[in-house]
Amino acid sequence: MSSNVLFTAATQAIVYNQHAIPIQKMLDYDWLINREAPSVVAIVNPNHEGFHRCFFGPDAITIPVYKTIKMAATRHQKADVFVNFASERSAYDASVEAFKTETLKTHIILAEGMPENESRELVRLARRNDGWILGPSSVGAIKAGQFIVGNAGGKIENIVESKLYRPGSVGLVAKSAGMFNELNYLISVYADGIFEGAHIGGDTYPVSSMLDNLLRLEYDPNVKMLVLLGEIGGEAEYAVVEALKSKRIKKPLVAWVSGTVASQFEGEVQFGHAGARSGSKHVSAEAKNKALADAGAHVPESFNDFGLLINKVFKEFVETNKSYEKPDDENYNIPPLDMREALKRNLVRKESSIVSSISDDRGEEPTYNGKDITEYIEKPLGSTINALWFKGGLNMIGEEFLELCLKITADHGPAVATAHNAIVTSRANRDIATSTAAGILTIGDRHGGAIDGAARWAFDCVSNRVTARSFVQEMKEKKELIMGIGHKIKSAQNPDKRVEVLKKFAETKGIAGSYLKFALEVEQETLKKKNNLILNVDGAIGVIFLDILAKSGKRPYEIEEILKVGSLNGIFILGRTIGMIGHAIDQKRMNEGIYRHPWDDIQYIS
Ligand code: ACO
Repeated sequence: MSSNVLFTAATQAIVYNQHAIPIQKMLDYDWLINREAPSVVAIVNPNHEGFHRCFFGPDAITIPVYKTIKMAATRHQKADVFVNFASERSAYDASVEAFKTETLKTHIILAEGMPENESRELVRLARRNDGWILGPSSVGAIKAGQFIVGNAGGKIENIVESKLYRPGSVGLVAKSAGMFNELNYLISVYADGIFEGAHIGGDTYPVSSMLDNLLRLEYDPNVKMLVLLGEIGGEAEYAVVEALKSKRIKKPLVAWVSGTVASQFEGEVQFGHAGARSGSKHVSAEAKNKALADAGAHVPESFNDFGLLINKVFKEFVETNKSYEKPDDENYNIPPLDMREALKRNLVRKESSIVSSISDDRGEEPTYNGKDITEYIEKPLGSTINALWFKGGLNMIGEEFLELCLKITADHGPAVATAHNAIVTSRANRDIATSTAAGILTIGDRHGGAIDGAARWAFDCVSNRVTARSFVQEMKEKKELIMGIGHKIKSAQNPDKRVEVLKKFAETKGIAGSYLKFALEVEQETLKKKNNLILNVDGAIGVIFLDILAKSGKRPYEIEEILKVGSLNGIFILGRTIGMIGHAIDQKRMNEGIYRHPWDDIQYIS
């Protein structure tokens, strides 16, 4: 691993896996430090290509998404950083693939628990390709004021607090992710902030070497002092000890190896990361701290004194460097908050585009009209329709009635408009949704769509005490058809069985009332004109529904509200949908070809 400068203000990165939050974090950082263009130039998502929607400051932007690393790298040849968000199962393959591109040299691997053989192979590949790897199990790195990787540094607020938006003088190398962020802050308080910080990752077999990272910062003239946070377990710190002794590390190094608490326990102790495991005395935190101190590092008595010791070393540097200038703390640009975050913090309020009062899917279990759906499972289907259509306003008889209506309107053979259209559309090779929708489009005044109209006149006439005879007369004078009266085939002599069933229901349940009575009086009047002008299914549903509402104690204004909405035609639409889906399926099952109406069934009158 050779290059000393991993990141600059012009660094471009390709992110493997479409992880929206850390990608947005990187772009927010770019905006914070006044970068001219986003650092993430491409995303690789093996399952999806297209564009990723995100923000650069206040502006909505898109970043191209490619299916392969090769495609992304070919299109974005200036990108040399590969942010590898693959899981531990595929992180190795992704990095191997990325090294083949020859442009993606610096890899940050976030996955935890990479097998040793894969880690070793990646070390070899990085060397051979003149590349550099941070991780596995790395949260990333920060080149203050120039570039950030993934979730390094925490939230934007932490980044600002730790002054990571502009370079300081300290080079930081840490093994612990949580402490990495903590140290960024400590260094901003006790020194002037970091120039660059790398979290090398806490895996048992790290690919990135503690010493290589420290040497990289040692060679960078912008870094004036080094801070190292090591960890119990492993030999990495001893390589640093050797480098101090041989003067390969000459800059002041403040170091602390965490895990001294392990000596309080009997036996082996496993800390947060796989690599942080106590073993022999040699790899204990105490032994490594002592070896570092003996080799010339500044090692505090305890972690509590780490900040004070950093401060002491930093002050010595400032005092001996008269040309030292404090960094500019003012030049940053806070990105706008996402609406979701702002709402969560009560910083903004927003009008909703939609108001909904019947269901909610935000909780653990969806609710219908405020009740968990499991409550509806034991009940008849009518109670679900009642909840979603009438907000639970119907009684049990109403719910039973709805279910009865669904059963008797489900189908009326292939000849009627709804079924016919569904059949023709299905035979034109259209799908079930389209075929059913085509059938639904025939529902109207002349077919299935007269329920609301029938309920309307029955309610108005009964409320205003209009007689059946004068109502039929009035409609005749206005030359208007009476909704819910008349049938193409059925007649007084050939009664509609479905209407008989509905009437019987009303009688046996004791809900037949003034509305059904009035409708039957109207039927007597219309039958005087023609024997097919019977009370039809639509009419019977409409008026019996009114009787149910009235018998359940609904006030006239409440019935008026239901009629005003015009929901009752929904009963026929829902019921008949069952049959239309059946017809569409039936045609497909029989593999029927396109329908063509026969010539001999058309009267050509040209
Ligand atoms: N009210 C008053 N008079 C009517 C009605 C009615 N609802 N329906 C038909 N007539 C009259 C017509 O004006 C016509 O009179 P005329 O001979 O003096 O000219 C005569 O009866 C025959 O009319 P047609 O249009 O030939 O009746 P058709 O049998 O073709 O229509 C239909 C049946 C469409 C149901 C019709 O009666 C109608 O439009 N009814 C009202 C709407 C309705 O209830 N639709 C739902 C039907 S039920 C279902 O689809 C599930």
